[in-house]
Amino acid sequence: MDFQGKLRFADEEKERGMAVIESMVEGVVVIDSDQKILLINSVLSQAFDLKRNEIQGRLFWEVFRDPRLNEMIEKSLKSRLPAGLEHSILLSNSVFQIQVSPVFKGEEFLGVTAVFHDVTKLKELERLRSDFVANVSHELKTPLTSIIGSIETLKEGAAENPRDRARFLDVIDEHSKNLRHLIEDLLLLSKVESGRENLRREKLDAEKILKKVIGTLDLDLNSKKIKVNLDFPEKPFLILADAKSIEQVFLNLIGNAIKYNEPGGKITVRGFYEADSAKIEFEDTGIGIPESDIPRIFERFYRVDKSRSRESGGTGLGLAIVKHIIERHSGQIHVKSHPQQGSTFTITLPRH
Ligand SMILES: Nc1ncnc2c1ncn2[C@@H]1O[C@H](COP(=O)(O)OP(=O)(O)OP(=O)(O)O)[C@@H](O)[C@H]1O
Ligand SMILES: [Mg+2]
Repeated sequence: MDFQGKLRFADEEKERGMAVIESMVEGVVVIDSDQKILLINSVLSQAFDLKRNEIQGRLFWEVFRDPRLNEMIEKSLKSRLPAGLEHSILLSNSVFQIQVSPVFKGEEFLGVTAVFHDVTKLKELERLRSDFVANVSHELKTPLTSIIGSIETLKEGAAENPRDRARFLDVIDEHSKNLRHLIEDLLLLSKVESGRENLRREKLDAEKILKKVIGTLDLDLNSKKIKVNLDFPEKPFLILADAKSIEQVFLNLIGNAIKYNEPGGKITVRGFYEADSAKIEFEDTGIGIPESDIPRIFERFYRVDKSRSRESGGTGLGLAIVKHIIERHSGQIHVKSHPQQGSTFTITLPRH
């Protein structure tokens, strides 16, 4: 009896089997003991851009032109044992985890089923995580190297000279503070990213919170002679948000508007309603952001000018934190910027 005959179910049973294979999120192909493709579901045929009616009944190795995959299927057909593999398939851009299992009907060997599990997203996440670890290590190492260098110099005799001692202690002081800032930002980022912390949404007066934040930045504003203008409606500007998180957002955005501004520059914060949303614009007269960098500034550790940001103790995590907080409020953030003219960050939040 041929294989088709061997696998011949009652019509209803066959349809049911096909429906099960079709409904799977994984790609599935069934290959008979003569190496021919018996069934393939649409997930797999689409992933590999294959026409189903053209490949059914054809030899599997003519269709899947991937040596490692074909070798695995062939081995499993010969040994009648399961086999597994994770790799990227030549026919598409995706990475699949592939599991081949023998099919028996009683004692009789009918062929093999190969199940393709798309792990492309998982792989991308793994890559991002390892990039992140590399970035963190680098960011930790830079200030630590300066701290260790200064301590060594002090021990070698610089401590005897009051001027040298003060200079190296200042270096240690500055870099330790940078380290603390980095670690605080990392902890905050991991908190907002994990979504572990529940947001406490409440009615807030955004202008009041802004004034408080601006108060804490007084020193920086004065030393750069930067003026802040608030442009808000008469009545309290009410938003529905988590107070602590929103304070963090304002602190980052105004902090950037100061840090990347020219001495004597201006910052204007504007609040207005649009339909169901409350919008707040942070406009500065600073150095601006080149157009090609704009899509990347919300990435963790991304800085347009690394040395300028690092000099002022920046870690490049600020905007990543801001974006996460805004998104957790179902809000949005947009940027418009012109180099040498200034930038405007606009956040949209639920209004109260
Ligand atoms: N208002 C702005 N004007 C010009 N460039 C900006 C502005 N805001 C952000 N940037 C650019 O985007 C980068 C990322 O900003 P982000 O706030 O994430 O990091 P940072 O300010 O460098 O460090 P941190 O906020 O962690 O102290 C900055 O390094 C800077 O290059
Ligand atoms: Mg910042």
